[in-house]
Amino acid sequence: MKIAVLTSGGDAPGMNAAIRAVVRSAIYAGIEAYGVRSGFEGLLQEDIEPMNAGSVADIIHRGGTILRTSRSEEFYSPEGMRQASENLKKRGIQHLVVIGGNGSLRGAYELSRLDINVMGIPGTIDNDIVYTRSIGFDTAVNTVLEAINRIRDTASSHGRNFIIEVMGRNCGEIALAAGVAGGAESILIPELEVDVEQVVEKINRGAARGKIHSIILVAEGVYDVMQLKETIEEATGHDTRISILGHVQRGGPPTAFDRILASAMGKYAVDLLMEGQYNRMVASDGNRHYSIPLHEVMKGTRTIDLDMSTIAHILSI
Ligand code: F6P
Repeated sequence: MKIAVLTSGGDAPGMNAAIRAVVRSAIYAGIEAYGVRSGFEGLLQEDIEPMNAGSVADIIHRGGTILRTSRSEEFYSPEGMRQASENLKKRGIQHLVVIGGNGSLRGAYELSRLDINVMGIPGTIDNDIVYTRSIGFDTAVNTVLEAINRIRDTASSHGRNFIIEVMGRNCGEIALAAGVAGGAESILIPELEVDVEQVVEKINRGAARGKIHSIILVAEGVYDVMQLKETIEEATGHDTRISILGHVQRGGPPTAFDRILASAMGKYAVDLLMEGQYNRMVASDGNRHYSIPLHEVMKGTRTIDLDMSTIAHILSI
């Protein structure tokens, strides 16, 4: 039995811990392990190398992915996918572990229809994959939280409002989790209608009782932050600054939570493949691990817990 592993799409802290877990669990079980470089692109370019226990030494604490990653358009054509599956088969590799987000899991699903036995591992800071927590989300939230703490220092020193834009693609999980943990006054997410009047009203209400700064967390794509700054300054007469956190949210050492999640998921992925359970995604609610058929995963994206938004609203009066 031979197992190959690849990382695909946006990198996420903890991917290295997952690669390590897949490779070492395979070797422990007497299975040959292979690493594919640069995601699905590496399948097309035949950038596939054998891996041993030493290949994954000293990586559990590192962000990014030692296998590198890509968003390959060529792979997603019918010809690209056929070629990718052929390149695996001619090396006698029937099993493939794909670590990545929704797009990457779709790639895994397509390969499963071409007779490759695949296993998905959810890895994306966005945490938008159905039925599971994703590797990287906890680290990203903690990175945003650290940024909020720092910005709060300068915001309160100058008596300024801060608009902080965070990542998440179409999902408000990062904004909501970091906003609750960081005590943000307002959190704007794609899952809820944006109410700028309410943002302004909160700032004014706070100012009336002597509050000199507010933190407004905005999930990317939800609202034009320049426009929001102008509206807030006009309506409150209060100096407002913008901080777009960007890709710092994707890097850095994974938290203990992400390392543990990645280690457990990597081992579980190999166990399932050995048991002959293919074409699934390993999943976890943070405590319990289970697996879901990939065709179920393809049906949608994760819905977020909007109770959190109510909690944030109440606690930031
Ligand atoms: O999916 C992870 C993510 O970081 C999203 O939050 C963001 O919208 C996107 O990737 C950014 O992609 P890129 O690194 O290609 O600019």
